[in-house]
Amino acid sequence: MKMIDKIKEYIGEAQAFSTQNTAELETFRIKFLGSKGLLKELFAEFKNVPNDQKKEFGQVINLLKTSAEEKVKSIQEALESKEESKEESKGFYGDLTRSPEPVIIGSRHPISLVKNQIIDIFSTIGFNVSEGPEIEDDWHNFTALNLPEYHPARDMQDTFFIQTNPDILLRTHTSSVQVRYMENNKPPIRTISPGRVFRNEAVSSRSHCIFHQVEGLYIDKDVSFADLKQTLLYFTKEMFGKSKIRLRPSYFPFTEPSAEIDIYWGLKTETDYRITKGTGWLEIGGCGMVDPNVLKNCNISPEEYTGFAFGMGIERIAMLLYQIGDIRMFYENDVRFLEQFKSSI
Ligand code: DAH
Repeated sequence: MKMIDKIKEYIGEAQAFSTQNTAELETFRIKFLGSKGLLKELFAEFKNVPNDQKKEFGQVINLLKTSAEEKVKSIQEALESKEESKEESKGFYGDLTRSPEPVIIGSRHPISLVKNQIIDIFSTIGFNVSEGPEIEDDWHNFTALNLPEYHPARDMQDTFFIQTNPDILLRTHTSSVQVRYMENNKPPIRTISPGRVFRNEAVSSRSHCIFHQVEGLYIDKDVSFADLKQTLLYFTKEMFGKSKIRLRPSYFPFTEPSAEIDIYWGLKTETDYRITKGTGWLEIGGCGMVDPNVLKNCNISPEEYTGFAFGMGIERIAMLLYQIGDIRMFYENDVRFLEQFKSSI
């Protein structure tokens, strides 16, 4: 075979070459372009080629050279980019020593934060936590609490009744848990009952038909009004860092005497003026000595035992603590609102 034809065959071979493998590519490179490779040999041969054939000969070996070089370059590039994507996927799945992506954690709801804080404060002085059902019967929500049928005080709380059975309702206050607790436990009793309550009220920035209360109950021998006041004072100090309270005479059917609990918030800032309406005082709940009728209804002898009870709104406390101006924010679950409580966990 003539030399020229042999070279043309090599050109065909070089152009047709393909591989996915770096080692094979290297063998190809050495064969054609290596220091002892074909092209080296052919260029060395060039001087022996008769002058009239030199031109054609030169053209074909140059073509062979560029064909081989281009082939090596293109396969090398293809292999490299494959290797890169392999590296990438290895990094994603395979490198277990890499530090993980930071996990975005949520935050506790402000109502839960405040509820837990209340539980902590009262458990320090020996109160346990009790719960009752949100769907209640008339007895536990009203009658046992000294609110018999047609008692005008029932109107104080707009009640959601279950349509098919007027005896069943959504509890309007956590005082119903008092009754359940006294029915099932003997004094001494020291319990707080946080939970959700329901009232048929127009929703506004200050009121909502679903909210939370915490009820407190202390029954033992010789429990006095002074014990009640001292317990509430301890709570206000711990919760708000405020050390002045007052108990304003009031009326609740389930306590006698009854009082509203006011804390002295102070009048240092403009906000203090606004939220206390210029008085410096803020109401945070109701309280009183458990009415003897309530004790009797729960099979506890009023001759032997006395006790106090109190009830407070958890949203109200959270609004004061975190300076939240609109109660609806608690229920919208807007992450921009909720995220602000991250540091409080
Ligand atoms: N149950 C009352 C309410 O929902 C709050 C309350 C007042 C609870 C006085 C009590 C209490 O235990 O003694 O408004």
